Amino acid sequence: MEIFETKKELRQYLSSFRNEGKSIGFVPTMGALHEGHLSLLKEAKQENEIVVCSIFVNPVQFNNPTDLQHYPRDLEADIEKLNQVDCHVLFNPSEKEMYPEPATEKYDFGELENVMEGQHRPGHFNGVAIVVKRLFEIVEPERAYFGLKDYQQLVIIHRMTKDYNIPVEIVPCPIVREESGLAMSSRNERLTAAERTEAALIYQTLKMVKIKSGFNTIKEVNEYVMRQFKKHKHIKLEYFEIVDMYTLQPLQTWAQSNTVIACIAAWVGNVRLIDNIILFS
Ligand code: PAF
Repeated sequence: MEIFETKKELRQYLSSFRNEGKSIGFVPTMGALHEGHLSLLKEAKQENEIVVCSIFVNPVQFNNPTDLQHYPRDLEADIEKLNQVDCHVLFNPSEKEMYPEPATEKYDFGELENVMEGQHRPGHFNGVAIVVKRLFEIVEPERAYFGLKDYQQLVIIHRMTKDYNIPVEIVPCPIVREESGLAMSSRNERLTAAERTEAALIYQTLKMVKIKSGFNTIKEVNEYVMRQFKKHKHIKLEYFEIVDMYTLQPLQTWAQSNTVIACIAAWVGNVRLIDNIILFS
């Protein structure tokens, strides 16, 4: 695997492949790679001749400095995992390389960013858009791969590519789960063994929500979720929303949409986790 730390060198390296008409697949990450990331890379390898992974813990998308400080980092272990899946290129820029000047871009994703993660993490999606757009401009991939776990991020990045005519296909990839059902996340590394067991409640609840969506009203489902989380003292529900998959706007009745997803964020100890389940599509 080739490793680059500068935009210039990476661009130069990729241009020869681009000139030969080879397709480039891109998996942007913040490192602490797990099976979820590896599944994106495997998918990218199947569909492209060259696969680029980036590892960059993007400071401008963290609204909480403690979260940034504690974000897990282990470049050596990441490189080993990337080699195992035969990733061709790693782009591992420094903060100075990505942000030689403080980033000032402002994006407006309207109603998509005023709910759920956007509401609870002010500025988060602006920071995500800043880095992803810059990375797209450096790598110029045909396809870019994103996990469904960060569903709102996926919708917003897709919107950004449309708003700015960025010629990249956004490829959504399924959530990869631990045996307990807990969605794989770099943040899981920060859970204690007991917290990891407790965190399984999140997906257990979502599975019940899917069953209940055939029988109960949205109000009843919401009340069920509140009750579940009240019973578990070590998990704090931040939000649970049943929303339209495309507008991300909360629904009051099932009749309001045929494409429906339930999204959740919860704190397990000091760790904030998100997950979701598609109810109708
Ligand atoms: O999902 C992530 O890991 C990050 O938000 C991303 C897309 C790599 C941007 O920093």
